[in-house]
Amino acid sequence: MRTEMLTTATADSFAAALDRAAGLLAQGALVALPTETVYGLGADARNENAVREIFRVKGRPAENPVIVHVGTLETAMKCASEWPPEAEKLARAFWPGPLTLVLPKADVIPSVVTAGGPTVGLRMPNHRFTLELLKTSGIPVAAPSANPANRVSPTTAVHVMDYFDGKIAAVIDGGPSMVGIESTVLDLTTRPARVLRPGMVHANALAEVLGTVSVHNGAATGALKSPGMMPRHYSPRAKVLLWSGESLAFAPLGNGSTREIAALCHSRYPTNTTRSMMLPRDPEAYARLLYAALHEFDSAGVDIIVVEDPPDLPEWQGIRDRLRRAAT
Ligand code: TXA
Ligand code: MG
Repeated sequence: MRTEMLTTATADSFAAALDRAAGLLAQGALVALPTETVYGLGADARNENAVREIFRVKGRPAENPVIVHVGTLETAMKCASEWPPEAEKLARAFWPGPLTLVLPKADVIPSVVTAGGPTVGLRMPNHRFTLELLKTSGIPVAAPSANPANRVSPTTAVHVMDYFDGKIAAVIDGGPSMVGIESTVLDLTTRPARVLRPGMVHANALAEVLGTVSVHNGAATGALKSPGMMPRHYSPRAKVLLWSGESLAFAPLGNGSTREIAALCHSRYPTNTTRSMMLPRDPEAYARLLYAALHEFDSAGVDIIVVEDPPDLPEWQGIRDRLRRAAT
């Protein structure tokens, strides 16, 4: 299969890409779409075979449900069998944006999307192209992050091409993702609502709207509430080590070998690394650049990435979560 790379940089190319993407989705093809969080591997959520193809191409376990992306509140309400007042408040406060709401699923959503479960994750992405596509086509789009299972999510069209060139119909280039890490996943089927995956919409911001929110503690909780909570996930090829900023005991790593050791920092550089990158000390800016940095270290053939542990503050929890998983 030849993978088309479509740009959206001019009014004409944007309009042509909208048409092409809608046509391909309607045919049951897979189209990688830009979102503000990370690029998604999209298919028409109502088309079982198309959704199966997502699982196949990603090598994703069938028990890991996929998020459905919608362009309007009306479409969201059609995908859920219940629309509680909390959903309405949160959607009004955070959509379009990096928040996924888990709700009881409606019959239009085939069970392959929800991994056989009774709930569906819904999100309205805040990206000009994809939002327009969802609105004008009316298609609810099932889309996990556009990476092979357990690899680092893509934040550019080139990252997606590196993973899936020749395996999917098209990639829409909508520029680098502006949020940079995956959405916050919030379960609204429990009381109080529970954060299953932290993201840049953090617990304090949710609590301002909801009153109380509980946060998944990472421990196994029986049924697959959110397989994204699997401990190892979001991993670069290189081994990731978290560095507290105290003393850096590198002897066991360097040890006279020729291994490439890179550092990813936000306040100071450790010594002994062969290359390093300083990210901004602001959580929004840091999240935006994080995955591109990991992709870059991987393509450079780095063996070990030492990551300076980010602050243990609410706005950093999504970033800390991804780094902890990458380091597992
Ligand atoms: O920002 C994002 O969420 C990106 C963009 C493309 O929207 N998507 C994304 O999808 O990260 P994925 O499949 O890589 O991660 C979705 C996470 C997984 O941890 C999955 O288990 C969880 O959401 N999830 C999806 N549906 C769920 C459901 N019904 N119940 C519980 N967790 C669910
Ligand atoms: Mg993913």
